[in-house]
This record gives sequence, C-alpha cells and structure tokens, in this order.
Amino acid sequence: MSQAGLNQFDLDRQGVELPVLETTESDVLGPGISELEITGIDLPKSDKKNLHQQRWHDHIRDCKEILRLVEPLEIAGRITKLTGLVMEATGIKLPIGSACYVPLDDGRRVEAEVVGFDSERLLLMPQSGVEGVMPGAKVFALDVADALPKPNHGQPPRRRGTDRARHLPVGAALLGRVVDGAGNPLDDLGKIDATQSAPLNSRPMNPLMRAPIEEILDVGVRAINSMLTVGRGQRMGLFAGSGVGKSVLLGMMARYTTADVIVVGLIGERGREVKEFIEQILGPEGLARSVVVAAPADAAALMRLQGANYATAIAESFRDEGKNVLLIMDSLTRYAMAQREIALAIGEPPATKGYPPSVFAKLPALVERVGNGRRGEGSITAFYTVLTEGDDQQDPIADAARAILDGHIVLSRSLAESGHYPAIDIEQSISRAMHNITSPEHQKLARKLKQLNSRYSRSIDLINVGAYEAGSDAVLDQAIARHDNIDAFLQQDISEQAGVDDSLNHLAYVLEGLAL
Ligand SMILES: Nc1ncnc2c1ncn2[C@@H]1O[C@H](COP(=O)(O)OP(=O)(O)OP(=O)(O)O)[C@@H](O)[C@H]1O
Ligand SMILES: [Mg+2]
Repeated sequence: MSQAGLNQFDLDRQGVELPVLETTESDVLGPGISELEITGIDLPKSDKKNLHQQRWHDHIRDCKEILRLVEPLEIAGRITKLTGLVMEATGIKLPIGSACYVPLDDGRRVEAEVVGFDSERLLLMPQSGVEGVMPGAKVFALDVADALPKPNHGQPPRRRGTDRARHLPVGAALLGRVVDGAGNPLDDLGKIDATQSAPLNSRPMNPLMRAPIEEILDVGVRAINSMLTVGRGQRMGLFAGSGVGKSVLLGMMARYTTADVIVVGLIGERGREVKEFIEQILGPEGLARSVVVAAPADAAALMRLQGANYATAIAESFRDEGKNVLLIMDSLTRYAMAQREIALAIGEPPATKGYPPSVFAKLPALVERVGNGRRGEGSITAFYTVLTEGDDQQDPIADAARAILDGHIVLSRSLAESGHYPAIDIEQSISRAMHNITSPEHQKLARKLKQLNSRYSRSIDLINVGAYEAGSDAVLDQAIARHDNIDAFLQQDISEQAGVDDSLNHLAYVLEGLAL
C-alpha cells in the first residue's frame, strides 16, 4: 500500500515494467486512489476488473508521456533597457524586493533586485557592475533555495510562495567574520557555515510589545556612561563632520561594551577605512565577538543599502536568541545617499535637498527595527553616525535622524582640533532615555557638570583676556577651579576603558564638595 503510486515512475524510468494495479472490492463500488494496490505483474482475475485496470494503466502512461515531454518550468524575462544604474525587464513578473539574476556569456551573473515597475516592465537595480549585459539578455528569478542552509543542517525552508526576497546567513557562525552586503566573506577565513538564514527586511514589531528601556548599557566610554547614559534598546545618533573621531569612538565602544555581541555595519565609507577599523580600532579581541558587514563607497548603491539591512538582520537574529546586541552603523547618511541614488535612478522626483521622499520613509523603517525585543528577550542598542557636512546641523538627513532617534551625541570639531578626544560636545548632546535608567543622584551630578562646563565655555573669552574677576560669579568660580579636572574627566585615550561604576565614581570625585 505504501508503495502505491510512489515508486511507479522511478521503476519505469529504470526500465522496470509498470506493475499492474489491482483494485480491492470496495474499489468497484466507489474507488479511491488510495485503495489501489500494487500486486506485481499478476494477471487480472476477471475481465470486468481488467477493463478498469487497463483504463488506469493507459491514463498513467499518458500522464507519464506528457511529463516526459514538458521542459522544467523556469520563469525568464528579457532585459530591454539599461540606462545608468537601472535595468528594465519584460516577460517576467516578480514582486518588489525579489531577487533575480542575469546570466552573462562568460559564466558570471549579475544579481539584481526588483525596485519598481512601470506597467509590464520591471525596474531592476543591480547588485554589482553591469558590464557584459546585452540587449535581450535573459533574466531569471533567483532560486531562493540556493541561499538556504542544507536540510539536515538547519531550519526547514518554510516559506510563503511569494517570498522571493534574498535570504542571507545569520547567527553565531558569523562571529569574528567580515562579510559584504550579500553575505560573502571578505576575510580569508573561508566559507561561512551558517545554519540559519534570514530575509533582509523583517516585519515591523508591534510597538506595544516592546520591552521599555530600563537598564543601562555600559559602553566603556566615561563621558557617555556618566553624562549621556545609554539604555539597552536605545537608538543613538553620533553627529559629526569628517575626521573628528567618529570611527575611533565607535571602535572604543565596540571593544569595551558589556554587550554580548557587536554588529558593525560599515556603509559607504572609504575602502581603506574598513581595514583600518577592523585591524587597528576594533582589534582582534573586539572582532572575536563582532560581526562586520562592510559595503564601502565603491560598492553598488543596492549593496550599500543591503549592507545596512543585513547588519540589522544579523543583530535581530542575535536579539531573538536573547542576546544584548550593540549595533554600530557608520553611516546612516551614506545609507540615505544610497537610497537617494536608487530612487532618483528609477524616476522618483527629488524633494528636500535632492533627497526623494522615499529616503525619509526608509530611514525610520531601518531604525525602528532595532530596540528591545519583547519582555525577557534580548535587545539591540544602536549607534548610527550621521554626517553633518561642513558641520551643518541642519542637513535634512541629520534633521530626520534627530527626530527618529532616542538621543544624539554631537562631536565638535573645535574640541577635536584642540586635542580633546573623544570630542563630545556635552552641551549639545542628549540621551533621551537617561532619566529613566539613572538614579536621581546620578542625574544631579550630570546636571551640575553640564552647568559648570557651559558656564566656563560661555565665559572663556573673558577668562582668557583676564577680564573676569574672581568672586563676582560663584558658579563660574567653581567652574574655573574645577575646569582642568572636568576636562580630564571628559577625555579618554583609545586604550583606556571606563565602566559605568568607575565613570560615576570619577564624576562624583570631580564634583566633590559642591552643592548639587
Ligand atoms: N580618543 C582618541 N584619542 C586620541 N586620538 C583620537 C581619539 N579619537 C580620535 N582621535 C584622532 O582623530 C583622528 C580621526 O579619527 P577618526 O578616523 O575616528 O575620525 P572620523 O570622524 O571617523 O573620520 P572620517 O570622517 O574620515 O571617517 C584619528 O586618526 C586619531 O588621531
Ligand atoms: Mg570614520
């Protein structure tokens, strides 16, 4: 019974003669195919049954013949146009976000993603260079099974039929590795043997299900731990111009944080910087518990976009395992620029400062994916760098980022120029979750230090020219007396680690004896 219908085709393909099907008694009354039995090549018992068998036999033979004639079904379209970055394809219907590829004559292939359509034409954005693509080249939907782990090796490939988006490896196998935006290793440690994969874009989480930000995340940097305390699940922006110490600060956090896993997305930065960040700033001990996704400036726009989404997907997978993740994205601005490149290429009109509206929709979509999981689950705390070109804080991306993030740390060029590192401008920076996660005592100390710091900087010109007379302003007197200590407190060398408790003790020591 169990063999019925199952091995019949295989037997025949191997030259075994088709067995005769015999019906049971119930079959004559009202047959169901499950009741057919294979009994070898026995002759039928009666003519009446023989006729019935013969019809089944013929029917199955016909079906087999048809199956032999048809070719395996593969959906293919053709490239009809390629201008600049975008390819147009006809004859293939795929949902937005699907992955597809164009095989080239030399055996390589150009992978692409469906980013739009215009009536019957699909707009495809390539993941790499398009050299070698010819007019009329075939386009195939990417076989999503390719990207899956082996069946006896990991999770079952349970998918909806329409899910044709790219799935990339995630999970512990990536720790200590450097990959590109498509999940290919960039280091020389061989193939990534991941047992899990995840789509690049996850479904948004119900905001009411998220655990609130209640615990402090130690980032190992004194000025942040004490003055701009960051909570687990918080999303911070690091606003700065070029060359004021963003990478070094992020690297220090990656090395010294108490988070379980660090995911670093290096998006649209110079290629040279990637190597430098990994080797000099992160170092071997930092890399061991990190995953680095690098999509440098010369990578295709889609790759840069994908790199940011991939880094987020990796962080999500660790969060789902209950880990506390620190996600570092350098930079959010370059992510927005990649989206701008794609949107303009497919014909979206530019709006604010050349950025099309979809950019401002993509930014919150990316940022909202991180944060805390449900209660009892892990968390993703994120730092996004935002470039403020020419130190212009009014840049539309900086503006949008400030609105969607839970705080911002501003790095000041003048501090960096005076050798004050990390060049955090305490006055302009804010952590919006700080008052929920710190003690009132801690908040008072932080406020006092901010007050002294700002009073000093406002009066710096007077003090420098000797126009200030001691005794005329009590707070300024305190600020002047403690200035050197405060300055030293806010500075930190690359090789120095400062935990939360140490930072707080140091803060209390600097302000010792002052009324709060
Ligand atoms: N904590 C620190 N201690 C000492 N020097 C530092 C520190 N932070 C940054 N610097 C100095 O500042 C320089 C620039 O830092 P970094 O490369 O991190 O800047 P960046 O903002 O990432 O630059 P870019 O915009 O080019 O990416 C470093 O080469 C280093 O000399
Ligand atoms: Mg940098």
